[in-house]
Amino acid sequence: MAGNIFGSLFKLTTFGESHGPAIGGILEGCPAGIELDLESIQEDLDRRKPGQSSIVTQRKESDEVSILSGVFNGKTTGTPIGFSINNTNQKPKDYSHIQDSYRPSHADYVYDQKYGIRDYRGGGRSSARETASRVVAGSIAKQFLSPTKINAYVSAVGPLSLDTNPSDVDLSLIEKNPVRCPDQKMALKMEDFIKKIRKEGDTVGGIITCIIKNVKIGLGEPVFNKLHAELGKAMLSINAVKGFEYGSGFSGTKIKGSEHNDLFNEDGTTKTNYSGGIQGGISNGMDIYFSVAFKPVATIMQNQETINSKGEKVEMQGRGRHDPCVVPRAVPIVESMAALVLADFSLIKRTNKI
Ligand SMILES: Cc1cc2nc3c(=O)[nH]c(=O)nc-3n(C[C@H](O)[C@H](O)[C@H](O)COP(=O)(O)O)c2cc1C
Repeated sequence: MAGNIFGSLFKLTTFGESHGPAIGGILEGCPAGIELDLESIQEDLDRRKPGQSSIVTQRKESDEVSILSGVFNGKTTGTPIGFSINNTNQKPKDYSHIQDSYRPSHADYVYDQKYGIRDYRGGGRSSARETASRVVAGSIAKQFLSPTKINAYVSAVGPLSLDTNPSDVDLSLIEKNPVRCPDQKMALKMEDFIKKIRKEGDTVGGIITCIIKNVKIGLGEPVFNKLHAELGKAMLSINAVKGFEYGSGFSGTKIKGSEHNDLFNEDGTTKTNYSGGIQGGISNGMDIYFSVAFKPVATIMQNQETINSKGEKVEMQGRGRHDPCVVPRAVPIVESMAALVLADFSLIKRTNKI
């Protein structure tokens, strides 16, 4: 299986499956001498972990990370940072019904067709459990990038959406509710909606918006590795993601150039920021903001028609512990993937000019 490595200089390799003994990763290229705050890595993991509230999957995993190499006396040594997270709450029996049948819109069918063998327990490598490793590496990247600040939040759940401009959002409110929506009234509505959907045995999608402040000018490599192109790839590599837009995105098509142009102030900042902090694939120092669309995930607790590995029609009903809506848990994953992209470009930037 190819495709388990992300980044070119600041480079993450992940390994592991949902129901194996552990998942983990190797992070190469992290410069030496960074004082690592291990508690803040664990805090980011706790924001992603299952069982954290009543609106997420009730799989109970403590998701404690062990740093195996690359850190000495609290500082990075410049050598590969190896880490692992044990899987402690596996229930393979919950998945016996998908051993020979395929969940519609999950990865079961394509894995079987492509590899001819599939670890069906918890979805194996296709499980979003893999994203815990991204959060560890992303959390290290965030510390490397400081004082750049990356904050993501839930801006929509199903039909409920928060229309506040990302730069007007009070970021200190994001972690005040289990949905991770910075508007408390909207968060309550979203929470009720997710609970209702869960009772129906169904799932619902949502949108995560991310805002990055204090960004250096010059990140991103035209022409193929433009900053927005790499952010798009990073986000679209997250399980269940169906869409990505940055800056004015699709809504920018509805206004004229005369309104859309970001006019300069004398210091090079711009009066508006429809560009989303990126021009020509290069960061311009303004806030970067983008949104990521997540689908209603595949495993529903309702009867559905599907096929088995012999191509016969069968009935299937989801079992086990699943997320009715993944966006509250995906917030730190979005931040982490953004951090990995920016960390990589920060290192590459050092090759740009003497
Ligand atoms: C945080 C998170 C949790 C997820 N939990 C579930 C889940 O409980 N059940 C499920 O069917 N899919 C879940 N998914 C989505 C699947 O991993 C994903 O849909 C599957 O691998 C197929 O990939 P695709 O949807 O990107 O095509 C989750 C995704 C994320 C980001």
